[in-house]
Amino acid sequence: MCGIVGYIGKKEAYPILIKGLKRLEYRGYDSAGVALSDQNGIHLCKTRGKVDDLSAKCEHLEKSPRIGLGHTRWATHGEPSDVNSHPHYSNSGDLVIIHNGIIENYDPLRKELMNRGYSFTSETDTEVLVNLIEDVMVNEEVKLGKAVQVALNQTIGAYAIAVMDKKKPNEIVVARLGSPLAIGVGDDEYFIASDATPFIEYTKDAIYLNDGEMAVLRTHKPLKIRNIKDDSLIDPYVQKLQMNLDQIEKGGYDHFMLKEIFEQPSAIADTYRGRMLADRGIINMSGIEDNLDKFRNAKRIIIAACGTSWHAGLVAEYIFEDIARTPVEVEYASEFRYRNPIIGEGDVLIAISQSGETADTMAAIEIAKQNGAFVFGVCNVVGSSISRASHAGAYTHAGPEIGVASTKAFTTQITILSLIALRIGKEKGNLSKTEYFSYLRELELIPDKIKKSLVSNDHIYLVADAYKNAKNCLYLGRGFNFPVALEGALKLKEISYIHAEGYPAAEMKHGPIALIDEEMPVVVIATKLGHYEKVVSNIQEIKSRKGKIIAIVTEGDEQVKEMADHTIEVPETHEAFTPLLTTIPLQLLSYHIAVMLGRNVDQPRNLAKSVTVE
Ligand code: M6R
Repeated sequence: MCGIVGYIGKKEAYPILIKGLKRLEYRGYDSAGVALSDQNGIHLCKTRGKVDDLSAKCEHLEKSPRIGLGHTRWATHGEPSDVNSHPHYSNSGDLVIIHNGIIENYDPLRKELMNRGYSFTSETDTEVLVNLIEDVMVNEEVKLGKAVQVALNQTIGAYAIAVMDKKKPNEIVVARLGSPLAIGVGDDEYFIASDATPFIEYTKDAIYLNDGEMAVLRTHKPLKIRNIKDDSLIDPYVQKLQMNLDQIEKGGYDHFMLKEIFEQPSAIADTYRGRMLADRGIINMSGIEDNLDKFRNAKRIIIAACGTSWHAGLVAEYIFEDIARTPVEVEYASEFRYRNPIIGEGDVLIAISQSGETADTMAAIEIAKQNGAFVFGVCNVVGSSISRASHAGAYTHAGPEIGVASTKAFTTQITILSLIALRIGKEKGNLSKTEYFSYLRELELIPDKIKKSLVSNDHIYLVADAYKNAKNCLYLGRGFNFPVALEGALKLKEISYIHAEGYPAAEMKHGPIALIDEEMPVVVIATKLGHYEKVVSNIQEIKSRKGKIIAIVTEGDEQVKEMADHTIEVPETHEAFTPLLTTIPLQLLSYHIAVMLGRNVDQPRNLAKSVTVE
């Protein structure tokens, strides 16, 4: 939550900051601000609202400074308002800070500072931190870098911060613990950002700070990274970025979400490219091959994730148990971390996260590691915290996902998890050669089958039009498609704000059936492979209570077509891979309904793409 950006070098900072903030807006978008520093001091402009509101407000700001910071916020402490927006000044006005994260002990620190004469204009934890830094600078007579270090050692919480000092218009101090921070290294210039997208057109060289590290950035001087706790110097590891500009722009689509839905055929092909050779029966992923014993001998696989990634984990549970025959438990990371979970040596924890930054999933990893389990990360964002905290892992290679609603992340996560399950299933001798080859060939056909499913887009638009005014909606599925029902409901509620629930179809009669009347649309996943006859009975039960049925069916299905109010066809595939196809119409249905209702599809209210706070 919150995006931070900064620049120091020869270029004008302001346009770099504004463009960077636009790219980071997915991380939070309730307020935004910039600070520019030159010989005359630090000039600050901030506002409640989005980055466009900020640009309008900053029209009269002097734009020539070559050093500056920017912030786009997702409120934690203090409501979205001009005053609570970042950057924040220290009391003297000498220091300015931007912050992504939460300082948990901000209240006692604030009281202590107030006792020492400090006052606060905002309700934020961040304003406490900048004054704590100032207090250290004044009392201990140290420079900014040292003061940041001393102050951070007094805090509890998570942060990615950048701080400037009015008296040193040639320096930015950055630090991270728990929230991401990337440094772009140019020719005598540095960029800082929550991810690499703000500087991708300027440099491909990036340093990702690790937890507990800080750096002082100055022009004409090499960058120095230090450990915040013990002050030791750390060799910077410069990584070459693979990302390009096209991947982070809308490419002619109205919304990132629509672009990302339509990217799924290529994203899935990118996930298995170079890892699966279907005609030769090869699956090869170094993270798995190097740790094959751990997977083969695993007593249990525990999957920890949140939101859509948790739904991908549920699909994987079915696939792993079916193909790899390893017991699987799927955990909400947020619950797992606060239980006293039974986990230890011989267990494998698979952490799934698109962003690789989700705080709860990170915490689950730490618990698993402390207890001796082997941790395997499935992330999309390369170099993210979760990918680095895991013992081994595999990237989904879906490309940047900007829309807050996860789409291609879900299907690529299922793809990579299927590959892992197949590799282990083969290793354990659970599959005949014919079965194994048929899975691989079928997986290879999925991108083309998704393309065929996407052809229904216009038809789905009409279905969306018929139900856009619904107040509630039920989603039902069985087996592999039960998690798809949950995911369909999540997509609808998060971007259209229509209340929706997903259920295993057979559970309907244990409660939700009471909700069904002629006002209630029920989306039923009723593909041929997947307890078809049972789902048909469920449809009849809904019909006899006058519910409206939108059925996702296999191409050529006639039986359900006669019963349902609307049907949307998907091609036939292996039952285990049906989620990769049945998800597509549900994503499109939610998308069109949300657009028809005038919602902000890419940035729905109250949400952020990357949930780096609890
Ligand atoms: O980056 P992660 O996959 O760890 O994110 C987990 C959830 O926050 C995320 O899937 C969220 O539920 C999405 N908004 C769903 O569309």
